[in-house]
Amino acid sequence: MDVEEPLVLLNPGPACTSERVRAALGRGDMCHREPEFSELLASIRDGLVRSLGVASTHEAVVLTGSGTASLEMATISSVRAGRKMLVVVNGVYGERIARIARTHGIEVVEVRSPNTVPADPAEVVAVLDRHADVDAVACVEHETSTGLLNPVAEIGRALASRPVVFCVDAISSMACEEQELAGIGGDFIAGTANKGLHGLPGISFVLVSAEGIERLRQVPERSLYLNAATYLDGQRKGDVPFTPAVQVCYALDEAIKELEEEGGHKKRAEDYRERAELVRKGYDALGLEILVEEPYRANCVTALKLPNGIDYTTLHDRLRARGFVIYAGQGNLSSEIFRVATMGHLSLAQLSRFVDALGDALRER
Ligand SMILES: Cc1ncc(COP(=O)(O)O)c(C=O)c1O
Repeated sequence: MDVEEPLVLLNPGPACTSERVRAALGRGDMCHREPEFSELLASIRDGLVRSLGVASTHEAVVLTGSGTASLEMATISSVRAGRKMLVVVNGVYGERIARIARTHGIEVVEVRSPNTVPADPAEVVAVLDRHADVDAVACVEHETSTGLLNPVAEIGRALASRPVVFCVDAISSMACEEQELAGIGGDFIAGTANKGLHGLPGISFVLVSAEGIERLRQVPERSLYLNAATYLDGQRKGDVPFTPAVQVCYALDEAIKELEEEGGHKKRAEDYRERAELVRKGYDALGLEILVEEPYRANCVTALKLPNGIDYTTLHDRLRARGFVIYAGQGNLSSEIFRVATMGHLSLAQLSRFVDALGDALRER
């Protein structure tokens, strides 16, 4: 019998996962009000902070929902009533943070730069110093929309001496990039299971510092489902407030074990660099232009300019026919670029085959 090969997903999550992580889904039924779920939850909460190198400074709040849910929880937990949030905006996800804040009635001060230009920490601080009513600063570490890295560690260092908390969207950079979470100074760090952690979609989390915990106790309850204090208090006792995606939790727990057995987040980030070097050599040989300049490029996503004479859909369909899924640009870049993510359980051999397939797809008449 002919067995069809699964598609190789080169979209920025949900990423390809290992057989081991997928098999964890089948462990069976479990009631989330029984002690065995409390054990699973404790294992995930401890595993997240341990495997990401922030066990001595952060506590994990785990929730059922995609990355946007954790981002929304982080955003609404960091600003007290009547105060503002300063949001760095240089792409789709920075825009999203600003939109989340406004949706909840939080006034936003934006610091904007073009979507291929990283945030300037000096400008962030200068704007902050003009707005005494700003309570929190938010920044996306990796703008998945373009593959651009923001200097979150520099921003975090500049904020350390100021009376604000720092909210970081590390959803697509966590365990992917060489920047370590411990060095960012983030008080609310939003993450998700199904990108660099190689888990399955459906569970996300916020890593909260001691200062973040102090802050979340001072904010009004802006959402029933996403109130961080409810989760934190419950999870410290092994409880969750609402029905969790139990089987996806099994898979995340397994993905964390896999990450640690494979050498941890530093080793994964090195592997991701190797992947990026391999595919970028190939793009170079094919004459393709990368949207973002070095040294601002992330390792896990590359946005490439569409060459003349081919549109995204045609390129996507030709690559899909060869077994690979690529991703479109977002917003005003949708007709100009395509994106290739090299995150997930992938081998260098698969990525080499992808580069060959890309060459074939571009030459096809
Ligand atoms: C940087 C960043 N923030 C937020 C999100 C939103 O995550 P989700 O689509 O899981 O809600 C994404 C998704 O790709 C992302 O890359």
